[in-house]
Amino acid sequence: MLLEGKTLIVTGGNSGIGAAIVRAAAAEGASIVIDYVSHGDATETIIAEVEAAGGRAVGVEADVSRPADLHRMVQTAVDSFGRLDVLVNNAGIETRTSILDTSEDDFRRVMDINLTSAFFGTQFAAKQFIAQGTPGLVLNISSVHEDWPMPGNVAYCVSKGGLRMLTRTAGVELGEHGIRVVNIAPGAVRTPINTSTEQDPAALRTLDAAIPLGRMADPAEIADLVVFLASGRASYMTATTVFVDGGIMQGSVGL
Ligand code: BGC
Repeated sequence: MLLEGKTLIVTGGNSGIGAAIVRAAAAEGASIVIDYVSHGDATETIIAEVEAAGGRAVGVEADVSRPADLHRMVQTAVDSFGRLDVLVNNAGIETRTSILDTSEDDFRRVMDINLTSAFFGTQFAAKQFIAQGTPGLVLNISSVHEDWPMPGNVAYCVSKGGLRMLTRTAGVELGEHGIRVVNIAPGAVRTPINTSTEQDPAALRTLDAAIPLGRMADPAEIADLVVFLASGRASYMTATTVFVDGGIMQGSVGL
């Protein structure tokens, strides 16, 4: 198994891409801390599934927009499994609002959940890796929109652009400790964030037509990349972004 003996934290781990990462990593032998802010029942269901398959997972109710909660989340990994090897900063939201319509509250909320969380998560995880004396990995679930404007979703794009530079700077600064920091940039994925598009046949046709592979990704197709990056087979990758987008960024049709 590719992740035997490793402990992963997955923020927003009870839905969408996060839940797929939990399932895939647990199936490869990792012990998982599932962070969540709502739907504790969904967390319990995933834990039961993982345990039924012979894996190990615990839940922690922690709001990633609060640094104190992130600190407690890292401590939960140490208390439950004795160590931390990989932090996956996955939790994220979007408002799908334009520059003219985005309120101060909306803008700050997106930054807090998508970007500030990843900064302090990286800081606390890095301190734990250094205290353990082990190389560690921070994976940020970014987006094609770390580099590609999405008109009408400005706060999200700004937060993902920030993640792009967080990963590059943190990867460079923390390299001397053997700590790696990598972004995964999905395109459109079948998750709750895209439910409104999936429920609108015309919008879905436009989106599928813009994707060279002709369809949205399954969350498992993102999770498989997490397993590879966390496995030790990607040990020379840091301070960069891996795109997993069905070719959407190179396509000729805009959204
Ligand atoms: C956004 C989706 C969008 C997709 C492709 C994702 O990062 O969350 O709203 O459909 O990128 O543009």
